[in-house]
Order: sequence, then C-alpha cells, then structure tokens
Amino acid sequence: MEAILIEGGQPLVGTLAVSGAKNTALALLAATLCASGTTVLENVPELADVQVMLEVLTSIGVKVQRQHDGIALDASVLTSHTTPYDLVTRMRASFFVLGPILARLGQARIPLPGGCAIGSRPVDLHLKGLRALGAEVAIEHGYAIAKADKLVGAAIYLDYPSVGATETIMMAAALAEGTTTLTNGAQEPEIVDLAELLTAMGARIEGAGTECMRIEGRPDLVGVRHRCIGDRIEAGTFMIAAAATRGDLTLVGIRPEHVASLSGKLQEMGVSVTWTAPEALRVQATGELTPIDVRTLPFPGFPTDLQAQTMALLAMTPGTSMLTETVFENRFLHVDELLRMGANIKTEGNCAVIQGVRPLTGAPVRATDLRAGAALVVAGLAARGTTQITGVHHIDRGYERLEEKLISVGARITRSGVGETAKP
Ligand code: UD1
Repeated sequence: MEAILIEGGQPLVGTLAVSGAKNTALALLAATLCASGTTVLENVPELADVQVMLEVLTSIGVKVQRQHDGIALDASVLTSHTTPYDLVTRMRASFFVLGPILARLGQARIPLPGGCAIGSRPVDLHLKGLRALGAEVAIEHGYAIAKADKLVGAAIYLDYPSVGATETIMMAAALAEGTTTLTNGAQEPEIVDLAELLTAMGARIEGAGTECMRIEGRPDLVGVRHRCIGDRIEAGTFMIAAAATRGDLTLVGIRPEHVASLSGKLQEMGVSVTWTAPEALRVQATGELTPIDVRTLPFPGFPTDLQAQTMALLAMTPGTSMLTETVFENRFLHVDELLRMGANIKTEGNCAVIQGVRPLTGAPVRATDLRAGAALVVAGLAARGTTQITGVHHIDRGYERLEEKLISVGARITRSGVGETAKP
C-alpha cells in the first residue's frame, strides 16, 4: 500500500509553477470530439483522471498522440457511440462525452456515473439540456441513451448552475442548428476556457462566464490548437499550504480572478496575497492568523473544491471559524481524519464549527477523496511530527508531481510503502 509521509513544520518558501487545470482539461478533451479534425491541447496535466479521459476517447476511435508540447487528438472518425462501463464508473467526468457524441453521431449510449463519496451527483440537468435541444433521452440498464436526428438550438434555463451540465449543453449546442440561450449556467473559468476552444473551432459563443450564454451552432467544427488555463484548485491548495506553514510562496501560471474568493478570505485572516505579474501571485504569512467564516458557492463564490483544505487551515487557526458547504451534501469526510491530528471540529448538517488549535500533530490518516486528501497534505505540512496518508490514488487524480513540487519549496515529504519514515 502506498503512503505519503510528511515531516511537518517546514515553511513553504520559493516559487512553484501551477499545472494545467484538471477540470478544464477534462472538458476540453471531451470537446475535441466536436471537431472533425485534429485538435492539439497544450498544458494538459499528467494526471490519472486525464489518462482515463484519454482511454474513453480512444475507445470510440479518437487517435491520440502525445507531442512534446501537447496532446494531439484526431476525432475525424468516431467508431462507436458507446463507452466502456468501467471507465465512466472510474471517473465521473467521462460522462461529459455524452453531448458531443450525440451531436456528432445522432446517438450516444453512455454509462451513468452514479454517486460518489461526496454526494449523490445526479445528471438530470445534463439530460434536461439535451432534451431541450431535441434529443430523446432514456435511462436503461445503467446507461443514458440519447438519440436525435438533429439537434436544434433552444432557450434553456438550468435550475442550478451545474458545471458539467453547462459543459454538456455547450458542446451539443455548438453543433446544433440555430442558437441556444443558456440561462443560469455555470460561470466557472473552465466554462470560459471551453467557450474559447469551441469558438476557435467555429462556433459563436457570447456571454461565457456570465449568467446568460448565447451559443450559435455550426454543422461542422474544425480542429485547432488551444492552451489549457492554470489550475485554480491546485494553486489554491498551495496558497492555503503556504498560509498554514507560515511560508512565503510565489505561484506562477494562475490568473488572479480565478482565485479571487480564496485570496479575499486569506487576506481576511491576515495573510498577504499580492499580484507580482499578470499570472503570478505571492502568499506570505507570519504570526497568528484570525478565524473566518466561509460558505462554498458556485463561481465566483468560494469553491467547494477548496473547502477541505481551508478547513485544515482553520483547524490550526486559534478562535472559532465556521464552514458551510452548499454545493455537495456529504463533503465533510475529511473531518474525522483531521480529528485524529488533534483538530476540534463539530459538524451539524452542512455546517462545520471549527475551534482552532495550534499545532496539529502528525498521525496516520486516510484520504477518502481527492480534495480530502489535499486537506490532509496541508494539515501534515504544518503539523508537528510525521503524518502518514494512505488512499494516495485519490490525490494522484488531481495533483501533478505533488511531492516533487512541494520538496522544491522546502517540504519534507516522500512516498513509500507503509512503515518507512519520512526523508528530507
Ligand atoms: C465539477 C468539478 C468538481 C467540482 C464541481 C462543483 C469537473 C470534472 N468537476 O463537477 O471538481 O466540485 O464542479 O464546482 O469539472 N447537480 C444536479 N444535477 C445535475 C448536475 C449536478 O443536481 O445534473 C448537482 C450536484 O449533485 C451538485 C451540484 O449540482 O450538488 C454541483 O454539481 P456540478 O456543478 O454539476 O459538478 P460537476 O460538474 O460534477
């Protein structure tokens, strides 16, 4: 069994390059299906989830070629309208191929992703959007089966600004006849990046990143070259780790507006966050920090994907903080693990009340999902003594070369079989 071992207490000091954004890359990879030609995506992170998406694309005929500066994906000929069951159950985002496959082939049969550790995660809004564009959609034998002779633009209102549903609708609408207006869609940076890719391919999209988007479809989209934005969740995790270890960390490759909510909250705690270049920021923390209240929300609100890491920081910030999770119904699985490290946290429904203690102490803990794992890394970096984290495969889904990056800024972290001690 693999484990990450951290000898805590070292301030993170230096400069780190932020990787390409996982969630954006997954959407962009699915969107390469929209073009009957070759698309080259640059700045795609090397992650387990990306590998799963590449396997999904390969399984339906996409030719994938790794180049020195990107991944070339030739989706000229799609050989199947269905994807292997085990791939979608391994990664929920593989469901995002439903829209483009339907638009390209007139039919799609994609396994339903089902629930996951952090909540039930239905796909009703994805299906609602495709139905509005004229598709017949049925759920049979664990698959979503969609058919449409042609997709036609429509006015769609989403009950909730789901990121995945917005992406599904954008990809289908980009190949639909006429214009789609999407109201109350997601406004996340990944939506804007996807809109830029689809626009470069030939669709016309206005209002991406706002509450109302207008998508004018084209019968054919062409392959292009596109660079994926930097990962705001990876950057945010490092910003929080810098604050927790009282470090001085510069991050390059991240846009300020993508981490504005976190920057604001860190500043409220007494952490200095300054922009040193258009895509670089510096986080400096010294002395005691003050407790805060945080509520997760769709973008531009505070991201649910940084809630667990923030809780780790608040757990070691003296005073009372409150965290409210509004996006997923069961996203406090990291609490029990933080308690093992000496944290004082009480949860009631979707609220957590955190009495900060200083310091946390290293302990054997288990990552239950990706961001819960990241929270344990943050806690371990600042804790006194050794933290041993198992369930490492969850962390590998979303953090590229994690140990290498952290070691380069002073962390004492290593990966090994259980029982070995952390090395500098
Ligand atoms: C994406 C991100 C994930 C992030 C989440 C919220 C990717 C690959 N993953 O996931 O890291 O945590 O956004 O920022 O981009 N919902 C419905 N019906 C639907 C779809 C969603 O009720 O059809 C609900 C979900 O159960 C959840 C909420 O909407 O409670 C948000 O989900 P959504 O925005 O769709 O998240 P994902 O796209 O799955």
